[in-house]
Amino acid sequence: MIKTGANGKARILLESLALVSDLRVVVEIGSIRIPIDTASDGYSTIYLARAIEELEAIFFTVDINQASLIMAAGILLEWDIDTVLVHGDGADFLRQFPLVIDFLHLDGSEPETTFEQFKYAEPKLSPSAVVCIDDCHSYGDWEWGKGNKVIPYLQEKGGWSVVVQPSAFQYKTAICRRATA
Ligand SMILES: C[S@@+](CC[C@H](N)C(=O)[O-])C[C@H]1O[C@@H](n2cnc3c(N)ncnc32)[C@H](O)[C@@H]1O
Repeated sequence: MIKTGANGKARILLESLALVSDLRVVVEIGSIRIPIDTASDGYSTIYLARAIEELEAIFFTVDINQASLIMAAGILLEWDIDTVLVHGDGADFLRQFPLVIDFLHLDGSEPETTFEQFKYAEPKLSPSAVVCIDDCHSYGDWEWGKGNKVIPYLQEKGGWSVVVQPSAFQYKTAICRRATA
């Protein structure tokens, strides 16, 4: 059992990962950008990589910033964990991704690109897939933060359960899965 301490974002991610039966493929858009475990950023890449290694699934983490990936690679090497680090745009990656996705963590930038990423991923999600969207608290003009387009889209579409859960400080994570899952 991986301990997440005060890191509420990581705790929600690991709990959400456990909701997926037969976890094989995990994708993250928006890798760690600072080399320390903070509750505000989340340190998600390292927590997910550690949990996924225990479960023997494959983990792809995608970032547009190469420097973040190089830093993440160094930390993953220290943990001796195999992870696929991809440099590029999250939507481009998901558009071309050929595998069925069991768990998707969307933690890029703003609602529009998060929605674009979700839409490319949607037809590739397994029936029991879970999608976590970080920073779905209200900020700026966005009631649901990064999820400001995805959450209303899923609510209107129906057939999806969307739970927006407080994680740490003012932050919230949206946990989205098909209602039948
Ligand atoms: C909030 S940080 C991610 C934090 C990380 N998930 C954690 O828990 O520590 C957002 C990251 O998304 C990346 N990013 C922003 N837009 C992106 C895009 N369109 N495609 C891929 N990565 C993107 C940024 O370079 C940045 O590293």
